[in-house]
Amino acid sequence: MLKIALSKGRIFKETLPLLAHAGIIPVDDPDTSRKLILDTNQSDVQLVIIRATDVPTYVEYGAADIGVAGKDVLMEYGGEELYEPVDLQIARCRLMVAGFANTIPHHKRLRIATKYINCTQRYYAERGEQVEVIKLYGSMELAPLVGLADRIVDVVDTGNTLRANGLEPLEHIADISSRLVVNKATMKMKHTQVKAFIAKIQEAVNQRN
Ligand code: ADP
Ligand code: PRP
Ligand code: MG
Repeated sequence: MLKIALSKGRIFKETLPLLAHAGIIPVDDPDTSRKLILDTNQSDVQLVIIRATDVPTYVEYGAADIGVAGKDVLMEYGGEELYEPVDLQIARCRLMVAGFANTIPHHKRLRIATKYINCTQRYYAERGEQVEVIKLYGSMELAPLVGLADRIVDVVDTGNTLRANGLEPLEHIADISSRLVVNKATMKMKHTQVKAFIAKIQEAVNQRN
């Protein structure tokens, strides 16, 4: 059995055509089903539906063989325990520092609100800037509006969310896209099956780009 970990929403939607190219079609739709393990047309392939940030954990521990995760999530997770054989070039965005343009920060030591605390600490440490990082779980754009933080670190795509809240992108940290990740033991034990799967997915990516 090959278990593939995916999150609902944009990653699931954008991964579906790539899976279809590999001949894998889920039987249920995670948007309408409450099931967390979805069967597919292939009796030896299942999809497990989990939170985007949990994908590296499931794959590292072998609870899923393969996963699809944003580079932002992988950078934040850290470690060297996952193979990352394919850049799927889906769910593309940029990890950025954002805030009000041309305003003096409220706090002497810059306060940064983010769900990416490791990436943020690393980014400012590399620049030798002392900042205070405040962990949030979502809606980071609100933090500067209510004086919780001077800046945020979040992913930006169209910039609509920033604009709608009077914020601007200020510094670019990294270009982001989703990656196929593979458990190290799976790569050895299910080598033939996984190698064929990776080749099919890579072919699908090449054909659409
Ligand atoms: P979450 O519930 O964790 O926010 P999402 O489905 O929104 O899950 O995000 C999954 C991944 O998609 C993120 O890790 C990131 O790589 C990418 N992503 C997030 N927001 C956007 C966006 N607005 N446009 C494109 N890609 C995005
Ligand atoms: C993401 C991200 C930003 C927004 C950026 O949120 O956290 O808020 O997209 O995209 P934009 O530049 O095109 O506006 P998402 O839509 O994933 O909402 P959620 O994670 O808060 O559910
Ligand atoms: Mg999101």
